[in-house]
Amino acid sequence: MNNNFTKNLVILIKISAIIFIFFILITSAISCMSLKNLNSYITYTIKERLTSIKDASLNDFEKGEEIMLPNPKLESKVSLEEALNNRRSVRSFSSKELSTEEISQLLWAAQGITKENTGFRTAPSAGALYPLELFIVKSDGAFHYIPDEHKLIKLTPEDLRSNLAQGASFQDFIADASISIVITAIYERTTAKYGDRGIRYVHMEAGHCCQNILLQAQALGLGAVPIGAFDDSCIQKLLNLPEDYVPLYIVPVGYKAE
Ligand SMILES: Cc1cc2nc3c(=O)[nH]c(=O)nc-3n(C[C@H](O)[C@H](O)[C@H](O)COP(=O)(O)O)c2cc1C
Repeated sequence: MNNNFTKNLVILIKISAIIFIFFILITSAISCMSLKNLNSYITYTIKERLTSIKDASLNDFEKGEEIMLPNPKLESKVSLEEALNNRRSVRSFSSKELSTEEISQLLWAAQGITKENTGFRTAPSAGALYPLELFIVKSDGAFHYIPDEHKLIKLTPEDLRSNLAQGASFQDFIADASISIVITAIYERTTAKYGDRGIRYVHMEAGHCCQNILLQAQALGLGAVPIGAFDDSCIQKLLNLPEDYVPLYIVPVGYKAE
């Protein structure tokens, strides 16, 4: 009787052990599969996003000369706290032109790539969808900034600064600034994923981008001001932009007048 009980107990323990091992194997296989799926989802979305951003830079409206920008500096003698404390809107500029290094630094601060393998940038972006496209207007023409290669594409050799000032409610100081950075957005890149809520995300991102420019200008000893008062369609026509590139901000930057 006792012998039988012991035998049955051993069999029961063996069966329980087999069921337990089987259970562990099944759950590990399932979690491995879902990790693999998650990994391929992340890879897929990053690939998809990079392709869509690359496509955006191949628009017909830009077939001009390409200007590679120098690498940005990643160190400065001005602390973030000093830049925050001293930043003030500047509306009076000297005629001194910004150097290519200064323009490169400002554009990098605005939307430069800071992580090569993912394409992540200096400013955060909802879903890393990057709806913003930047343009600069200066004495030797208007240019489109391409963050991927940290380069400019020339759209026109004309000096459009006076026209830009007119389109911005005749705020004449805009024409005096060495450059103006025009922040535009393609809403669809963000609303395709987030619906109407994406509209607010795009506006938040324009704010992040603009603030980065203002603080970088301050750190470089330059003056800048965010401009929200302008006629959207006038600015679009001036830069010959496709309809879905909506201008959200103009940021004139230059040396401060003495
Ligand atoms: C959304 C927004 C739109 C603005 N639009 C203009 C503008 O069209 N023209 C202008 O001279 N300043 C404009 N400004 C700058 C404000 O007038 C300025 O930030 C404010 O007077 C505070 O001064 P501060 O920037 O020196 O701190 C704008 C600022 C913001 C945030």
